Amino acid sequence: MLDLMIKNGTVVNANGSAKQDVGIKDGKVVMLGDSAYFPESKEVIDAKGQYVLPGFIDSHVHVNLKMGEFTTLDSFYNASLAAAFGGTTTMVEFAIPYKGETPLDAVVRRKEEADNQSVINYSFHGCVTNGNDESYRDVAELITGGIPTIKMFTVYKDVVMVGKGEILQVLKIIKEKGGLAKFHAESDDIIDYQINEFIKNGKTTPMYHPLSRPSIAEAEAVSSLLTLIEHTEAPAIFVHMSTGMVKEQLKTYRNRLPVFTEVCPHYLMLSDQFYNGEDGQNYICSPPLRPAHEIDGLWEMVQSGLIDVINSDHCCYDTEQKNKYKTEFYKAPNGLPGIETRGTVFFSEAVMKNRITINQFVDFTSTKAAKLMGMYPKKGVIGIGSDADVVVFDPRTRFQITAQNLHMQTDYTPFEGFEVTGSPVHTIINGKHIIANGNLKDDSFRGQFIKRGKPILN
Ligand code: URP
Ligand code: ZN
Ligand code: ZN
Ligand code: ZN
Repeated sequence: MLDLMIKNGTVVNANGSAKQDVGIKDGKVVMLGDSAYFPESKEVIDAKGQYVLPGFIDSHVHVNLKMGEFTTLDSFYNASLAAAFGGTTTMVEFAIPYKGETPLDAVVRRKEEADNQSVINYSFHGCVTNGNDESYRDVAELITGGIPTIKMFTVYKDVVMVGKGEILQVLKIIKEKGGLAKFHAESDDIIDYQINEFIKNGKTTPMYHPLSRPSIAEAEAVSSLLTLIEHTEAPAIFVHMSTGMVKEQLKTYRNRLPVFTEVCPHYLMLSDQFYNGEDGQNYICSPPLRPAHEIDGLWEMVQSGLIDVINSDHCCYDTEQKNKYKTEFYKAPNGLPGIETRGTVFFSEAVMKNRITINQFVDFTSTKAAKLMGMYPKKGVIGIGSDADVVVFDPRTRFQITAQNLHMQTDYTPFEGFEVTGSPVHTIINGKHIIANGNLKDDSFRGQFIKRGKPILN
């Protein structure tokens, strides 16, 4: 007897699609094919006209993020529930050490926060924010102990930034132990100089935020890090890329080194014009939104295989927090909410507008992340023996995005009023039907902590 069967849909994986029924038992996919030959099932979902996709993986989210004066407003329960509504079944959050903590301390603290709270499956990235022996020891321990991804920031001085010397040392350990470095790449020097100039001249409204963090600041940091990556041959991913300025350089390096890239829906859909509006502060994130021509360059990267994963960089601030420094951009909280909207907005913009295929969509939102994060083929594919993390997605629904209908702990979405096509209808996590026809069906279910393996780099 099966626990759950999904009938009449089109199963889509990164490498192909087929009209197939899916049989699920004990949290795993156990049958694929014609359900006429399946045993009976306790429950059946009819997915006629719908896609049956591997559950989305969001490997860049921040939950209860305390950065300077502000803390984001969601708990692991809140964020993961919103994620489940959006079709995301696994998230990887950043365990950023507080003062006095080592990277491992931060992972332990974060895991305690998420255990028995997170509705979806979860893991963490280790984060090095201090160059000392404890940090280096922890990096080695984390990589071999199920946390193979290590984040470093080249900005946010005196908060989380580390210098190039420390980065070089961490890259050597990552290479030796078989991990993957993650970089927030922006040049702190360039940005610091620009911000000080704007402050001197009284130019501190949100429109100066993108001008203070020009694309060249991102390009310079990427270039410099590529030199360190080349020297150490450590695998690395540049997160939330916002510019096509480094396209040619990336192309060259990717031919010979394991260098990967991430982009977020907001960089593909929203331009820097939003900073000129009355609510410009709501769009402050780092790197900033870019001019329209830069967005074309990013889409070219998506379409030409220069981008590997699409993640949200979810940061759940509300408008009250965003308003506090409405006219002092450099003090404002950085980041946008997006854990719930990522799948839908990217599907609508990318697949429905014929920029990519549905199979590429699966690769960007699930399969490639599963590989790079060390969770494949448990996650990231609908195949016999894989975890039954599945999203049934209806490509026909048309609606307007509005914060009122979303479940994130904030009162706004940067995509307010956007007309989109396609939405998740059912979310199945570890074989359990959690979201049914867009409604929460089982509020008692909790996801699992995932001990991850080595990143798969090809
Ligand atoms: O603006 C952003 N992206 N804030 C979140 C922290 C980070 O840099 O990813
Ligand atoms: Zn970042
Ligand atoms: Zn982030
Ligand atoms: Zn059900």
